[in-house]
Amino acid sequence: MSDYLHGAADQALSALADALRRSEGIGHGLGEGRAEVLRRLAEQDLSRAAFRPPEPARIPACRHLPETVGAAIMVDAALAAALAGMEDELHWRRSEDYSDAAMGQAGFMDNYGHAEIIGSHGCFAGDDFRLGFLLLGPGLHYLDHAHPAPELYWPLTGPSDWRRGDGPFTTRQAGEMIWHRPHEVHATRTHDQPLLALWAWTRDTAEPARLVGG
Ligand SMILES: [Fe+2]
Repeated sequence: MSDYLHGAADQALSALADALRRSEGIGHGLGEGRAEVLRRLAEQDLSRAAFRPPEPARIPACRHLPETVGAAIMVDAALAAALAGMEDELHWRRSEDYSDAAMGQAGFMDNYGHAEIIGSHGCFAGDDFRLGFLLLGPGLHYLDHAHPAPELYWPLTGPSDWRRGDGPFTTRQAGEMIWHRPHEVHATRTHDQPLLALWAWTRDTAEPARLVGG
């Protein structure tokens, strides 16, 4: 299983790197993010020796995986196949600081979660670098939050609404990458279908995301 899982993780990371290289010259507001993610990804030890199987864990939001992984095929078939092959082996979890009350929405915690490929719960420990998948159920509002880590989002389903700072929400289609600078406040709203996104924190990863305002 470990060789298989290592192969699936490698396929997912290669799919992201390929997509970033393909996106060069296409204005998605990615700015310096494209080069930053590629550079930091290349600095990670993703060898077979560095691989360790995650402790498999499921959360309620995993019920959205069949629909979202199916839809993600339209964005990147190799990435969707890789996730389909390893979703049961990943450590799906939720941020400990979050609750339905903190997020102002009943049912939020049953519709939210993430799993790392790179990071302390992932397949590779990472060197101050985290990368994984995010799930958000339909009709959710992930409130304003911020963190020191610069962040890439690659929504694999959609559309969904995103905003930075005090700006308006902008609708992003599946496949449109998004870049958040350090400490930039951001929020996400899903439409009537669940959201699956790949995300990466490229440095300053020790400090978690914190909700802003209230
Ligand atoms: Fe974020």
